[in-house]
Amino acid sequence: MQLLVTGGAGFIGSHFIRLVLAEHPEARVVNLDKLTYAASPANLASVEDDPRYRFVQGDITDAAVVAEAMAGCTHVVNFAAESHVDRSIHGAVDFITTDVLGTWVLCDAARSAGVDRYLQVSTDEVYGSTEGRPFQEDDPLRPSSPYSASKAGGDLQALAYMHTHGLPVVVTRGSNTYGPNQYPEKLIPLFVTNALDGEPLPVYGDGRQVRDWIHAEDHARGILTALLEGVPGEVYNVGGSNERENIWITRQVLELVGAGDDLIRYVADRPGHDFRYALDSSKLMALGWSPRIDLAEGLASTVQWYRDRRDWWEPIKSGEFREFYQRQYEERLHAAVRS
Ligand code: NAD
Ligand code: DAU
Repeated sequence: MQLLVTGGAGFIGSHFIRLVLAEHPEARVVNLDKLTYAASPANLASVEDDPRYRFVQGDITDAAVVAEAMAGCTHVVNFAAESHVDRSIHGAVDFITTDVLGTWVLCDAARSAGVDRYLQVSTDEVYGSTEGRPFQEDDPLRPSSPYSASKAGGDLQALAYMHTHGLPVVVTRGSNTYGPNQYPEKLIPLFVTNALDGEPLPVYGDGRQVRDWIHAEDHARGILTALLEGVPGEVYNVGGSNERENIWITRQVLELVGAGDDLIRYVADRPGHDFRYALDSSKLMALGWSPRIDLAEGLASTVQWYRDRRDWWEPIKSGEFREFYQRQYEERLHAAVRS
């Protein structure tokens, strides 16, 4: 098995590469990553000297770079994406370029290379918000943010390549993922690191929105199961079956950090904020996968990781992040309501 993994220097992709190299001694991995603001090459420090691993810095929208990186590969797993909803509200061009056009470039190259499997990493956000039963794979797609609309574009493009050109495509749609190595712009790492520094936690709206949380190791394992056991042309949901309100997560984080509720600030809501995501993952479970990490234990170990790894996140929070944070939160926090 020779894999091309794209976006492997990001959060879930790095967990996936470490998992593949640990559990498949015969596997070789090429990691093609542009190294955007969201990448942390340090995530792969433990494998960078492994002779089975090779890093290529490059953009998935660049057909020549992609063809070179894909040469000899049997499997392609596309994690590369612009992945943050709030940033897509400020400007969507990078989202459309990477998440839609980039996916098309990869599918086209995979078709020319004649790979055995192409796996597109998609998201539960393509279904939109639900107040009913958890989403199943054949439910309609109703993406509502520029991010999720771009991901839906990539997801459908990949499936169209199967339908039209016979590329053996598998799509996974994962739920909200947490764990070590997550860039601290997303809810859990932002709130953990803010709480560790005694900074306010900006909860959007009333904090009653619901997300289904899955640990990155479980998500990575789900993607690997779909890659190896999934049927071409099929979509597999990868959810944690841990639906929680954002305010519940917020209070858990505060308790684990040992900080008080006085850090909570209710701030202006995210425009177009999806109320609830929920996934039915029974189709992937039928292939032998199930999440292993209990949410309470996963949150505790994640908080501990951020406590221990200031060397990882402090440089991030003092760089480009500060500009983003100001744009995203300064006004909101100014007008915030204390808990
Ligand atoms: P991330 O933002 O942490 O990492 C994305 C990686 O992609 C980075 O290393 C970045 O440098 C790379 N990248 C971006 N544009 C690129 C380009 N044009 N060419 C090459 N590399 C590029 O993302 P993540 O949270 O690890 O998410 C990985 C994938 O999983 C994404 O496709 C995302 O949509 C999907 N997903 C994420 C979650 C979640 O909760 N984080 C849940 C479901 C699905
Ligand atoms: O559901 C899967 C998706 O989960 C992935 O496809 C995305 O890549 C990933 O970023 C994530 O999207 P969300 O928008 O759900 O994640 P985020 O961590 O940004 O927000 C989680 C919830 O917390 C959401 O309801 C918004 C809320 N929130 C978030 C932030 C950053 C706040 O209340 N305050 C905040 O400051």
